[in-house]
Amino acid sequence: MDHFSYKNGELYCESVPAERIAREVGTPTYVYSKATLLHHYHQVADAFAPVKATICYSIKSCGNLHICRLLAEAGCGFDVTSGGELFRALRAGGKPDQIIYAGVGKTDQEIADALETGIAAFNIESEAEIENIDRIAGQMGKRAVGAIRINPDVDPKTHVKTTTGKKETKFGVDIDRAERVFEQFRNLKNLRIAGLHLHIGSPVYEIQPYVDAVTKATKLIDELTRRGHRIEWLDLGGGFAVNYKHPDQALPVTEHAKALLPLLKGKPYRIALEPGRYIVGNAGILLSRVLYRKTGGNKRFVIIDAAMNDLIRPTLYDSYHFIWPAKPSAGNVPASRDSDLVATDGETVDVVGPICESGDYLAKDRPLPKTERGDLLAVFTAGAYGFAMSSNYNNRPRAAEVLVDGENYRLIRRRETYEDLVAAENV
Ligand code: LLP
Repeated sequence: MDHFSYKNGELYCESVPAERIAREVGTPTYVYSKATLLHHYHQVADAFAPVKATICYSIKSCGNLHICRLLAEAGCGFDVTSGGELFRALRAGGKPDQIIYAGVGKTDQEIADALETGIAAFNIESEAEIENIDRIAGQMGKRAVGAIRINPDVDPKTHVKTTTGKKETKFGVDIDRAERVFEQFRNLKNLRIAGLHLHIGSPVYEIQPYVDAVTKATKLIDELTRRGHRIEWLDLGGGFAVNYKHPDQALPVTEHAKALLPLLKGKPYRIALEPGRYIVGNAGILLSRVLYRKTGGNKRFVIIDAAMNDLIRPTLYDSYHFIWPAKPSAGNVPASRDSDLVATDGETVDVVGPICESGDYLAKDRPLPKTERGDLLAVFTAGAYGFAMSSNYNNRPRAAEVLVDGENYRLIRRRETYEDLVAAENV
């Protein structure tokens, strides 16, 4: 469910026409729907309410302060992976005791800052990190709290670059080593290890990898408890997929909950989740205008004013994003966003950006309605890891971000200027 739909032949975000935003703010622009964002947050929170799960939004997916503030106000916590993300979460109004900090390479300064802030817990990824957090907490006269990130060795069946829960990835501690780690670091002076964390990958379209991972984790906790360890929470990470290709490509989170709640209910420890994509993925689109058309060999290219620096997912992960004109010709108004959709007056094109790399494309061999210079295209399901992974490559100022709320919209990040491009540099 989202609030991007075609009414009277043109694309609306909630009650605002996409064309109006593009005209007034320019392109490329990310457009987010407040109602969609909050709907997905509440859907996750409600689905896991029977186990009173703490939801920590994975801020890496889309860190805009305004968006984070809306989530914080709704009661959401944050999953951060850097000092910058911690700064952002706090600036957005995140409560320190609802912030968890993951990542394989936390620096001493980042650890110290997180301790100073009083975050809820570190998700710790190695023995060396355990020792370092204990040492720094000792120096500061603080007592740190942490969870061990285990690597449950399940296959999430997702892209190799976003698979994290299998052996031989850099993440976490192998599950068969975890017991020994808990034993070895049982009595640290300045760090209390009291949780278990896992994150198997992203996006995950199937339920079974979660069921397998949670089954392994709860078994491990039972064993740890038998050995006298007190485990106070289990953090299941994020990864719930969204609909990129078809309206029912991804399972609603309620289905995941249905499968996982029986494994979690009645446990004497708390449950946490770290969804990013599920909350913000379908809450954002990228608007871009057609600059030129050209042919090359047998190929037709539609050159648009958004590029791989704005949305790198297609070239980095071979990701599919549904793309369609905001004002399609009559007969081409899509009933649903489906990769099988073929336009009546269509053509097969590569949708490419202005960057000097052949990897600069947003779609390859894509059947689209015929478009002309100046037409507005919408790239859907771009809310997660869209703006967040954007860069200034080719010295392109980063896109504007807009949030729609009913009949109104506001600029929540202005378009960068050329001055912004050089602002941090010294000559
Ligand atoms: N927790 C941890 C420890 C993570 O590493 C991640 C994502 C999440 C939670 C949130 O996962 P989500 O619910 O958003 O799927 N850039 C890639 C995705 C990378 C995910 C990295 N970790 C993409 O565009 O598909």
